[in-house]
Amino acid sequence: MGIWEPQSVAIVRLRGVDDLPACVKALREVHRQDGYPTRWPRDPAGWLSPTSLVAAWIAVDGGSLGGHIALVAGVDDSLLIAAAGRPASELAAVSRLFVDPTRRGRRLGQMLLNTVTEYAGEHELGLVLDVVDETRSAAIALYERLGWRLVGQRAAGWMTAAGVRPKLRLYVLPKNPSPLTLSPPGPGKATLN
Ligand SMILES: CC(C)(COP(=O)(O)OP(=O)(O)OC[C@H]1O[C@@H](n2cnc3c(N)ncnc32)[C@H](O)[C@@H]1OP(=O)(O)O)[C@@H](O)C(=O)NCCC(=O)NCCS
Repeated sequence: MGIWEPQSVAIVRLRGVDDLPACVKALREVHRQDGYPTRWPRDPAGWLSPTSLVAAWIAVDGGSLGGHIALVAGVDDSLLIAAAGRPASELAAVSRLFVDPTRRGRRLGQMLLNTVTEYAGEHELGLVLDVVDETRSAAIALYERLGWRLVGQRAAGWMTAAGVRPKLRLYVLPKNPSPLTLSPPGPGKATLN
């Protein structure tokens, strides 16, 4: 007979000011392991609350911070605006998405994106995002699996510490995305609610 082990239950909720220290701590680890963000910001808590922030959410997994996502207004990319087919005032960009490296592959990223998508639906906002074009990017795989549509590519408006201007992939979330079929969650996946 198997031994019953309680599974951690992950939830997503709006980020509070008190959550920022834990977010910065997790972000530091993400930067160290994944190079995201490319350059470590001088004011990481400020970086997590960019100008035009609409809202930010965190995933709480087993009582501690599992991940983070933000929604930002003021989309000014003409390609994204044209591809979304809506005025900039009706668009918001997904930003500052990361999951604690020790909790990857448990669908926390998907939960955070689903929360933002639900919020956008309720507020009649179209969603867009850009992501650095990298091979074997977990982020790109996740966006495409959830039905985000690649609408173009362009050079970033910023440079890496090495002076390289990375290529960005631009995505729009269609009104009725058709997510790719999911493989069944493996052992250790979070119990989602
Ligand atoms: C992109 C990111 C948020 C995904 O978070 P996540 O919680 O692992 O996402 P999910 O579990 O919902 O799905 C991730 C997929 O990548 C796979 N994966 C990638 N890295 C993994 C790892 N280290 N361990 C296990 N699975 C991993 C998973 O198998 C999963 O695929 P599946 O659903 O087919 O099994 C996370 O990898 C991350 O924080 N990356 C660094 C920051 C970043 O790139 N942010 C995006 C900026 S645009």
